[in-house]
This record gives sequence, structure tokens and C-alpha cells, in this order.
Amino acid sequence: MLSSDNSNQERQSLHGNWSSRLAFIMAVTGSAVGLGNIWKFPYMAGQNGGGAFVLVYLLFVFLIGMPVMMSEILIGRRGRRNPVATMALLGEEEGGSKHWKWLGALGVITAMLILSYYSVIAGWTLTYIPKAISGQFTGADATLIADLFDDFVSNPAAVISAHTFFMFLNFFVISRGVKGLEVAVKFLMPALLFLLFVLLYYSLTSGSFSEGVSFMFTPNFAALSWDGVLTAMGLACFTLSIGMGAIMAYGAYLPQETSITNAAVSVVVADTGIAVLSGLVIFPLVFANGLNPGEGPDLVFKTLPLVFGQMQAGVFLATIFFVLLAFAALTSALGLMEPAVAWMVESTNYNRKKSSAIIASLIWFFGLGTALSDNLLSEFKFFQGTIYENVDFITSNIMLPMSAVFITIFAAWVMSKNSSSEELDGHGVVYKIWQLLARYFAPIAILVIFLQAIGWI
Ligand code: PHE
Repeated sequence: MLSSDNSNQERQSLHGNWSSRLAFIMAVTGSAVGLGNIWKFPYMAGQNGGGAFVLVYLLFVFLIGMPVMMSEILIGRRGRRNPVATMALLGEEEGGSKHWKWLGALGVITAMLILSYYSVIAGWTLTYIPKAISGQFTGADATLIADLFDDFVSNPAAVISAHTFFMFLNFFVISRGVKGLEVAVKFLMPALLFLLFVLLYYSLTSGSFSEGVSFMFTPNFAALSWDGVLTAMGLACFTLSIGMGAIMAYGAYLPQETSITNAAVSVVVADTGIAVLSGLVIFPLVFANGLNPGEGPDLVFKTLPLVFGQMQAGVFLATIFFVLLAFAALTSALGLMEPAVAWMVESTNYNRKKSSAIIASLIWFFGLGTALSDNLLSEFKFFQGTIYENVDFITSNIMLPMSAVFITIFAAWVMSKNSSSEELDGHGVVYKIWQLLARYFAPIAILVIFLQAIGWI
């Protein structure tokens, strides 16, 4: 039975708890570290002129991402249900309105839409595993590597099969519940990190390292538009997995005695570290090979294989890298699916397996739009461009920041001080800083940037 008294001490999640604080941190890090860090961060930094974008992104991660993440975890743990039910319950307990459930629902829908394209890109990653094993990158030059990629994405059947396979993997793992997530994450994250360091060594020794570093860290504000600032903010939310109920859903399984602040700091540092690290791997290689940093979503797929092709043991390393990247994508995808699955299990009489199957099929269907964006529907453009570009823009740059605003407003204004300080352990400096950022800085900054970018200010 779920208890509904006002203190959450006895409230239990239906889906079980993480076995330890480390397991939670690993799982949230697993959800945070994914294609956002290794695929999206470098290509977006490249498209938006480098240094200034990176600086703004880092500021957003710490000043907006951190307080929003803490808010999301604390709401999740207090409610201990799926995001929709948690927001309905806490909305009623704390603010007198059940309508807060719509905020939970917005998150669930955003996560599903994001997963629809995320799965397609994860499919690209999966496809690169057999390419790596069969040595297709060995000795290839930039043109050959680019052709390899373009041939693949222009083939709808290949892209859709990979997307289907990835969604199936997702369904398989998520239908087994929370415990399945833990095991996967504990081994994969450290392995991925290790491999990034191997690549970093390579880019240090054979890339144009100083050119790459200066591109990433010399801020040239002239190269950054308000649109770019909005993109940096959307990316900060995206890579941290905040603003869509994913962290809220994971927070619901967090043991009561774990410190939310410590957990949030560890996750934010790990996630940002990996994004910066992958930039440090990729940009020196981009410049050493005369590639264009503003290439777009193809950037990573046209850079890294080139490097593997020139390395000793490149076949082996490339294989491991794409396997790990696919796993990193999988652990993130699970986080994107969990809110919807948890919602369905709790609100219908379908079991976890059936709910996972229904949700996975829906997401798969939406994903077809992105899968066809580079081939059959590449000419079909409106608003921001292709279907992929629209889904990405609307989810990351509009839906995520908007939910982030409401999440901080809920946690810092609507919830009583008693409740939030009980979850965040006390009234010390950390609590004060959180309150300041969550009450004023984060919501105001997000709104100002948003209104600037759409031209209302
Ligand atoms: N943070 C993930 C990434 O960077 C994407 C994600 C968003 C995962 C939201 C789960 C929830 O790839």
C-alpha cells in the first residue's frame, strides 16, 4: 500500500529501491552520460562557434542544471511514484492543486519524443559496430569515411532496422525492472571513461591539440547568437537528463538516507567532465584532418572512425568504443522510457512487460520521422528544418526549459520549506544556495533566454 500521509518516511515505491547510494549515482550518471555528451555536445559546440558556447553551456550546467536536478530528485523522492502521480500527490499536499500533474505529464511526453530520435542515433552507433569489426575504417581517408556514413543514412531500410533493434533492446531491459539497470551501468561507465582517455592520448599526440583547445575554450561572443544561447541551455538540460521526469522517476527509488546534494554534485561533475573530454578528443582531430567543426549531427561519425582507422589496434578499439557508446545510449534511453512505463504500470492494470511493449512501440513509431529525415523525407522541411531538427528543437529548446522552470517553481516556491529542507538535509549554506538559485536565478534566467531567443524581448 502506498502511504499518503504528509511525511514521506514510510512512503515506498512500487518498483523497489536502488541498493545503495552508489547504485543511484551510477544509474543517474548512466542516464546523464550518453549521446548528449559524446555526439550532441561536440556537434552543437562546433555549429555554434566553439568557446563562447562552451562557456555558456558550463555556466548553465552549474547555475541552472544543478538546482533543477536537486529539485527534481527531491520531488521524486518525496512522492515516490511516477512523475505524473508524484506531481498530483505533492501538488495536492503542498500547494492545494492536483493540476501539477500536468507538469509530470509534460515530462513524460517530452521524454518519449526525445527517445524517438535518440533511438535512431543509437541505431547509427549500433550499425558502426559491425563496420568497426570488419575493419572498414582501416586506412580510410576523410572522404571515404564520410561516404561510408552518407551511404548508410541515405538507406531508409538500414536506418529503420537499426532503430528497431535498439528499441527492442530497450524494451528487453526495461521490462525487467530497476535491478536490470544497475548491473549494466556499474561496468559500462568506467569502461567508457577509460576508452575516452585512450582516445584523448591519441588526439593529444596526433591531433592539432592546441587548435582544438583554443576552439573550445577561447570565447568569441560574436559567434554566439541568442539562438545559440538557447541551444546551450537546452543542451545543458538534455545532457543532465533534467526537465523530463527521468530524474524524478529515478529519485523515487532513492533510499531516504542518501544526500541529494552529494548525489547531484557527483552526477553533474561526471556528466560535464565526459562532455568536455569528448570535445577534447574530437576537435583536435577535426582540425588535424581539415574537417569542418560545424558539420552537424554527422560530426562524431565522420571524425572518430578516421582516427580509429589510423591507430594501431584500431579495429579492436573502434569496436569497443562503439559497443560502449551504444551501451551509454542504452542506459540513457532506459531513463527516457522509465517515466512512461512507470506511469502506465501504476495507472492501468497492465503489467510491466505489457506496458513496456506498448510504450516502446509508440516511441518506435514516432522515431520513423527522424529515421527518414536523412533519406526519403530529407526534402520535407518546415519551421526549423527536417523532422529530426524540429523534434529536437521543440523538445530540447522549448519543452525542457519550460518544465525546468516549473519544476524549480514547484520545489522552491510551492513546496513548504519544511518539506524541501527535510529532503535536502537541513538549513545550511548549501540549502540557502539551492533556494536562491531555484527560486530566483534559474527560472528568471531560463525565461529571459527563452524570450530573447524567440524575439519577444
Ligand atoms: N542525458 C542523456 C544524454 O546526454 C539523454 C537523456 C535525457 C537521458 C533525459 C535520459 C533522460 O545522452
